[in-house]
Amino acid sequence: MTRLRVHCFSISVDGYGAGVDQDLANPLGVGGTQVHEWFFATRTFQKMQSRDGGATGIDDDFAERGFANVGAWIMGRNMFGPIRGPWPDEAWKGWWGENPPFHTPVFVLTKHARASIAMDGGTVFHFVTDGIHAALKRATEAANGRDVRLGGGVATIRQYLHAGLIDEMHLAIAPVLLGGGEHLLSGIDAAGLGYRCTEHVGTANATHVVLTRGG
Ligand SMILES: NC(=O)c1ccc[n+]([C@@H]2O[C@H](COP(=O)([O-])OP(=O)(O)OC[C@H]3O[C@@H](n4cnc5c(N)ncnc54)[C@H](OP(=O)(O)O)[C@@H]3O)[C@@H](O)[C@H]2O)c1
Repeated sequence: MTRLRVHCFSISVDGYGAGVDQDLANPLGVGGTQVHEWFFATRTFQKMQSRDGGATGIDDDFAERGFANVGAWIMGRNMFGPIRGPWPDEAWKGWWGENPPFHTPVFVLTKHARASIAMDGGTVFHFVTDGIHAALKRATEAANGRDVRLGGGVATIRQYLHAGLIDEMHLAIAPVLLGGGEHLLSGIDAAGLGYRCTEHVGTANATHVVLTRGG
Protein backbone atom coordinates (compact mmCIF):
# COMPACT_ATOMS: atom_id res chain seq x y z
CA MET A 1 0.00 0.00 0.00
CA THR A 2 1.24 3.48 -0.83
CA ARG A 3 2.49 5.42 2.18
CA LEU A 4 2.95 9.17 2.56
CA ARG A 5 6.48 9.82 3.81
CA VAL A 6 8.42 12.89 4.88
CA HIS A 7 12.20 12.61 4.83
CA CYS A 8 15.12 14.84 5.70
CA PHE A 9 12.88 17.64 6.85
CA SER A 10 15.37 19.78 8.70
CA ILE A 11 14.46 22.03 11.59
CA SER A 12 16.36 24.20 14.01
CA VAL A 13 16.46 23.43 17.73
CA ASP A 14 13.76 26.07 18.18
CA GLY A 15 11.59 24.27 15.63
CA TYR A 16 11.81 26.32 12.42
CA GLY A 17 11.91 24.63 9.03
CA ALA A 18 12.69 27.85 7.16
CA GLY A 19 13.92 31.29 8.11
CA VAL A 20 12.11 34.56 7.46
CA ASP A 21 12.00 36.40 4.10
CA GLN A 22 12.41 33.67 1.52
CA ASP A 23 13.61 35.08 -1.83
CA LEU A 24 15.89 34.20 -4.76
CA ALA A 25 19.01 34.74 -2.66
CA ASN A 26 17.59 32.87 0.35
CA PRO A 27 15.58 29.85 -0.86
CA LEU A 28 15.24 28.62 2.74
CA GLY A 29 14.72 32.09 4.18
CA VAL A 30 17.36 34.12 5.99
CA GLY A 31 19.72 31.75 7.82
CA GLY A 32 17.65 28.75 6.74
CA THR A 33 20.44 26.90 4.93
CA GLN A 34 22.02 26.21 8.32
CA VAL A 35 19.37 23.59 9.08
CA HIS A 36 20.41 21.66 5.95
CA GLU A 37 24.20 21.61 6.50
CA TRP A 38 24.09 17.97 7.61
CA PHE A 39 22.42 17.04 4.28
CA PHE A 40 24.74 19.09 2.04
CA ALA A 41 27.70 17.14 3.46
CA THR A 42 26.33 13.73 2.48
CA ARG A 43 27.33 11.57 -0.45
CA THR A 44 23.66 11.45 -1.49
CA PHE A 45 23.51 15.24 -1.85
CA GLN A 46 26.86 15.37 -3.66
CA LYS A 47 25.61 12.71 -6.09
CA MET A 48 22.48 14.84 -6.70
CA GLN A 49 24.88 17.62 -7.75
CA SER A 50 26.73 15.16 -10.05
CA ARG A 51 29.76 15.35 -7.77
CA ASP A 52 31.88 12.57 -6.27
CA GLY A 53 32.64 12.29 -2.59
CA GLY A 54 30.57 13.37 0.37
CA ALA A 55 30.20 11.78 3.78
CA THR A 56 28.89 8.28 4.28
CA GLY A 57 27.46 7.02 7.57
CA ILE A 58 24.31 7.78 9.53
CA ASP A 59 23.49 11.18 7.95
CA ASP A 60 23.94 9.74 4.48
CA ASP A 61 21.88 6.64 5.32
CA PHE A 62 18.95 8.92 6.24
CA ALA A 63 19.45 11.01 3.09
CA GLU A 64 19.49 7.91 0.89
CA ARG A 65 16.42 6.38 2.55
CA GLY A 66 14.41 9.39 1.42
CA PHE A 67 14.71 8.40 -2.22
CA ALA A 68 13.97 4.67 -1.87
CA ASN A 69 10.68 3.38 -3.30
CA VAL A 70 9.32 6.87 -4.05
CA GLY A 71 6.99 7.07 -7.07
CA ALA A 72 5.74 10.65 -6.76
CA TRP A 73 6.31 13.82 -4.74
CA ILE A 74 4.05 16.50 -3.29
CA MET A 75 5.27 19.97 -2.38
CA GLY A 76 3.90 23.43 -1.64
CA ARG A 77 4.27 26.27 -4.08
CA ASN A 78 6.75 28.10 -1.79
CA MET A 79 9.08 25.11 -1.86
CA PHE A 80 8.83 25.18 -5.66
CA GLY A 81 9.97 28.79 -5.81
CA PRO A 82 10.00 32.37 -4.49
CA ILE A 83 7.20 33.74 -6.71
CA ARG A 84 3.96 34.56 -4.87
CA GLY A 85 0.50 35.28 -6.25
CA PRO A 86 -0.52 34.71 -9.89
CA TRP A 87 2.27 33.37 -12.14
CA PRO A 88 3.62 36.35 -14.15
CA ASP A 89 4.70 33.98 -16.98
CA GLU A 90 5.86 30.38 -17.51
CA ALA A 91 9.55 31.11 -16.93
CA TRP A 92 10.02 29.75 -13.38
CA LYS A 93 10.60 25.98 -13.40
CA GLY A 94 11.80 25.38 -9.84
CA TRP A 95 15.12 25.82 -8.06
CA TRP A 96 16.70 22.66 -9.41
CA GLY A 97 17.71 23.37 -13.03
CA GLU A 98 16.75 21.41 -16.14
CA ASN A 99 17.18 18.00 -14.49
CA PRO A 100 15.62 18.16 -11.00
CA PRO A 101 16.45 15.44 -8.46
CA PHE A 102 12.90 13.99 -8.28
CA HIS A 103 12.71 11.88 -11.48
CA THR A 104 8.97 11.28 -10.85
CA PRO A 105 5.76 13.30 -11.15
CA VAL A 106 5.75 16.16 -8.61
CA PHE A 107 2.41 17.65 -7.51
CA VAL A 108 2.74 21.31 -6.51
CA LEU A 109 -0.06 22.71 -4.33
CA THR A 110 -1.13 26.21 -5.32
CA LYS A 111 -4.20 28.38 -5.71
CA HIS A 112 -2.86 29.58 -9.08
CA ALA A 113 -3.38 27.20 -11.99
CA ARG A 114 -0.60 26.53 -14.44
CA ALA A 115 0.16 24.00 -17.20
CA SER A 116 2.31 20.99 -16.27
CA ILE A 117 6.05 21.22 -16.99
CA ALA A 118 8.05 18.20 -18.20
CA MET A 119 11.71 18.43 -17.21
CA ASP A 120 14.73 16.32 -18.15
CA GLY A 121 15.22 13.08 -16.23
CA GLY A 122 11.54 12.19 -15.76
CA THR A 123 10.43 14.97 -13.41
CA VAL A 124 7.05 16.43 -14.38
CA PHE A 125 5.65 19.29 -12.30
CA HIS A 126 1.84 19.28 -12.06
CA PHE A 127 0.03 22.16 -10.37
CA VAL A 128 -2.87 21.14 -8.13
CA THR A 129 -5.44 23.77 -7.20
CA ASP A 130 -8.03 21.62 -5.43
CA GLY A 131 -6.32 20.91 -2.14
CA ILE A 132 -4.27 18.37 -0.21
CA HIS A 133 -6.60 15.39 -0.64
CA ALA A 134 -6.76 15.85 -4.42
CA ALA A 135 -2.95 16.15 -4.57
CA LEU A 136 -2.52 12.97 -2.53
CA LYS A 137 -5.01 11.08 -4.71
CA ARG A 138 -3.23 12.12 -7.91
CA ALA A 139 0.21 11.42 -6.44
CA THR A 140 -0.88 8.00 -5.18
CA GLU A 141 -2.18 7.08 -8.63
CA ALA A 142 1.01 8.34 -10.25
CA ALA A 143 3.20 6.45 -7.77
CA ASN A 144 1.68 3.21 -9.04
CA GLY A 145 2.25 1.15 -5.90
CA ARG A 146 5.35 2.97 -4.69
CA ASP A 147 5.25 5.58 -1.89
CA VAL A 148 4.63 9.31 -2.09
CA ARG A 149 7.21 11.64 -0.61
CA LEU A 150 6.00 14.89 0.88
CA GLY A 151 8.84 17.35 0.36
CA GLY A 152 7.55 20.39 2.26
CA GLY A 153 7.54 23.23 3.03
CA VAL A 154 6.26 23.85 6.47
CA ALA A 155 2.69 24.97 5.63
CA THR A 156 2.15 21.92 3.44
CA ILE A 157 3.45 19.40 5.97
CA ARG A 158 1.35 21.02 8.71
CA GLN A 159 -1.84 20.51 6.67
CA TYR A 160 -1.10 16.85 5.99
CA LEU A 161 -0.17 16.33 9.67
CA HIS A 162 -3.40 17.95 10.88
CA ALA A 163 -5.31 15.65 8.53
CA GLY A 164 -3.44 12.62 9.94
CA LEU A 165 -2.33 11.63 6.44
CA ILE A 166 1.43 11.36 6.95
CA ASP A 167 2.49 7.79 7.73
CA GLU A 168 6.14 8.47 8.57
CA MET A 169 8.12 11.63 9.15
CA HIS A 170 11.89 11.86 9.48
CA LEU A 171 13.04 15.12 11.03
CA ALA A 172 16.67 16.20 11.27
CA ILE A 173 17.15 18.63 14.12
CA ALA A 174 20.16 20.81 13.37
CA PRO A 175 22.19 22.30 16.24
CA VAL A 176 21.30 25.88 15.34
CA LEU A 177 18.78 28.48 16.49
CA LEU A 178 16.85 30.49 13.88
CA GLY A 179 14.75 32.62 16.24
CA GLY A 180 11.94 33.06 13.70
CA GLY A 181 10.50 31.82 10.44
CA GLU A 182 8.17 28.92 9.61
CA HIS A 183 7.54 26.79 12.71
CA LEU A 184 6.78 23.14 12.00
CA LEU A 185 4.92 21.78 15.01
CA SER A 186 3.58 24.85 16.78
CA GLY A 187 -0.03 24.19 17.86
CA ILE A 188 -0.03 20.64 16.47
CA ASP A 189 -0.75 17.82 18.93
CA ALA A 190 1.27 15.15 17.14
CA ALA A 191 0.87 12.68 20.02
CA GLY A 192 -2.91 13.20 19.99
CA LEU A 193 -2.88 12.55 16.25
CA GLY A 194 -1.31 9.15 16.95
CA TYR A 195 2.36 9.81 16.20
CA ARG A 196 5.13 8.21 18.22
CA CYS A 197 8.87 8.57 18.06
CA THR A 198 10.02 5.24 16.61
CA GLU A 199 13.71 6.03 15.94
CA HIS A 200 16.24 8.54 17.15
CA VAL A 201 19.95 8.85 16.67
CA GLY A 202 22.38 11.72 17.02
CA THR A 203 25.42 12.55 14.88
CA ALA A 204 27.83 15.47 15.02
CA ASN A 205 25.63 17.34 12.52
CA ALA A 206 22.02 16.55 13.45
CA THR A 207 19.68 14.60 15.68
CA HIS A 208 17.55 12.33 13.52
CA VAL A 209 14.04 11.53 14.73
CA VAL A 210 11.43 9.38 12.99
CA LEU A 211 7.77 9.87 13.91
CA THR A 212 5.39 7.10 12.85
CA ARG A 213 1.61 7.22 12.89
CA GLY A 214 0.30 4.35 15.01
CA GLY A 215 3.93 3.45 15.77
N1 LIG B 1 13.63 22.51 6.24
C1 LIG B 1 13.40 21.72 5.21
O1 LIG B 1 13.80 20.55 5.21
C2 LIG B 1 12.62 22.25 4.05
C3 LIG B 1 12.11 21.39 3.07
C4 LIG B 1 11.37 21.93 2.05
C5 LIG B 1 11.17 23.30 1.97
N2 LIG B 1 11.69 24.11 2.93
C6 LIG B 1 11.49 25.55 2.90
O2 LIG B 1 10.22 25.87 3.38
C7 LIG B 1 9.83 27.13 2.81
C8 LIG B 1 8.46 26.96 2.19
O3 LIG B 1 7.55 26.60 3.20
P1 LIG B 1 6.21 27.42 3.39
O4 LIG B 1 5.62 26.93 4.65
O5 LIG B 1 6.52 28.86 3.23
O6 LIG B 1 5.34 27.04 2.12
P2 LIG B 1 4.95 25.71 1.30
O7 LIG B 1 4.30 24.74 2.17
O8 LIG B 1 6.10 25.26 0.46
O9 LIG B 1 3.91 26.36 0.28
C9 LIG B 1 2.78 27.07 0.74
C10 LIG B 1 2.02 27.55 -0.46
O10 LIG B 1 1.57 26.43 -1.22
C11 LIG B 1 0.25 26.67 -1.66
N3 LIG B 1 -0.64 25.75 -0.93
C12 LIG B 1 -0.37 25.06 0.19
N4 LIG B 1 -1.45 24.34 0.56
C13 LIG B 1 -2.41 24.57 -0.35
C14 LIG B 1 -3.74 24.12 -0.51
N5 LIG B 1 -4.29 23.27 0.36
N6 LIG B 1 -4.45 24.58 -1.56
C15 LIG B 1 -3.89 25.44 -2.46
N7 LIG B 1 -2.63 25.91 -2.34
C16 LIG B 1 -1.90 25.49 -1.31
C17 LIG B 1 -0.07 28.10 -1.34
O11 LIG B 1 0.47 28.87 -2.42
P3 LIG B 1 -0.40 29.81 -3.41
O12 LIG B 1 -0.13 31.18 -2.97
O13 LIG B 1 0.12 29.52 -4.77
O14 LIG B 1 -1.82 29.38 -3.28
C18 LIG B 1 0.78 28.34 -0.10
O15 LIG B 1 1.07 29.67 0.13
C19 LIG B 1 10.85 27.49 1.77
O16 LIG B 1 11.75 28.42 2.33
C20 LIG B 1 11.55 26.17 1.52
O17 LIG B 1 12.86 26.33 1.04
C21 LIG B 1 12.38 23.61 3.97
